[in-house]
Amino acid sequence: MLRRPRRNRQSSAIRAMVEETSLSVNDFIYPMFVMDGKNLTSEVSSMPGIYRYSIDKLLEEIAVIQDLGIRSIDLFPLLSEDKKDKIASESYRKGNFYLEAIHQIKSKFPEIAIMTDVALDPYSSDGHDGYVDENGNILNDETLHILAKMAVAQAEAGADIVGPSDMMDGRVGFIRQALDAKGFTNVSIMSYSAKYASAFYGPFRDALDSAPKFGDKKTYQMNPANSREALIEAELDFSEGADFLMVKPALAYLDIIKLLNDNFDIPIAAYNVSGEYAMIKAAAQNGWLDGTRTMVESLTSIKRAGAKIILTYFAKEYASLVK
Ligand code: PBG
Repeated sequence: MLRRPRRNRQSSAIRAMVEETSLSVNDFIYPMFVMDGKNLTSEVSSMPGIYRYSIDKLLEEIAVIQDLGIRSIDLFPLLSEDKKDKIASESYRKGNFYLEAIHQIKSKFPEIAIMTDVALDPYSSDGHDGYVDENGNILNDETLHILAKMAVAQAEAGADIVGPSDMMDGRVGFIRQALDAKGFTNVSIMSYSAKYASAFYGPFRDALDSAPKFGDKKTYQMNPANSREALIEAELDFSEGADFLMVKPALAYLDIIKLLNDNFDIPIAAYNVSGEYAMIKAAAQNGWLDGTRTMVESLTSIKRAGAKIILTYFAKEYASLVK
């Protein structure tokens, strides 16, 4: 045999030398949940190790993760039911606790990159990402105005990157124009370009109490069976000015990550979502899988597929592991 691939696997030094994909804490964005109140921390029951924090506790936690080398976070709000309405008006009300959290993080940790979520669902009495009419239809163009107000309010509070996760048509261009009109030409857009109608978001909706009150999200989120459609979504977002294209979820959509990475020259991100985290945690807690190795293997596969950036609830655990 002239070709013996095992020769390149024979020692740790050689394996490391030929390793094609390596993870860095720089690749990660850590999703975090914030809630109103003081001195509050509550664990998300379906996501062991992940907590919702009031602003004071969130700031303490950011100091911890910054020490571990994490430099970027994505913030999501948990709202009480009485703050929700059909037009998600709380989302752009000046001084709401979410905007206040962004402001305080920016003043205390100016080096942390803050990404925000732009979609109606945590603020919507219907639990949908868009505006819902009397007949239960999600209205696209009406929603764009709300998204733009939300994005501008987040930029004013100090967001570095806004993340439209709503899947309305035309939202990236609409938000870009609204930001530019207010002088926020330096605020980036990370578009959830190929966001699928996935069962893997369950634990996130528990965390934020944001599940749809009726129906599902299939008229705006993509069909998991489709990949060519992801190219259309990505082309639109690219042409409308997105700075990053995201695929979500990650693990069941590695082909989509590769597809976008092969076709676009802006950074590709992937969201390793709540259900992907919960599956590994549950199996590890039962002793059915080695949690640490499964985490590293999963994150590596997402990077290998072509994601430069990974939004992952594992960011803190991974950063602690390599520290
Ligand atoms: C909401 C939003 C969702 C997630 C991020 N932004 C849920 C949804 O679309 O229902 C999911 C994240 C996760 O599961 O970790 N627009």
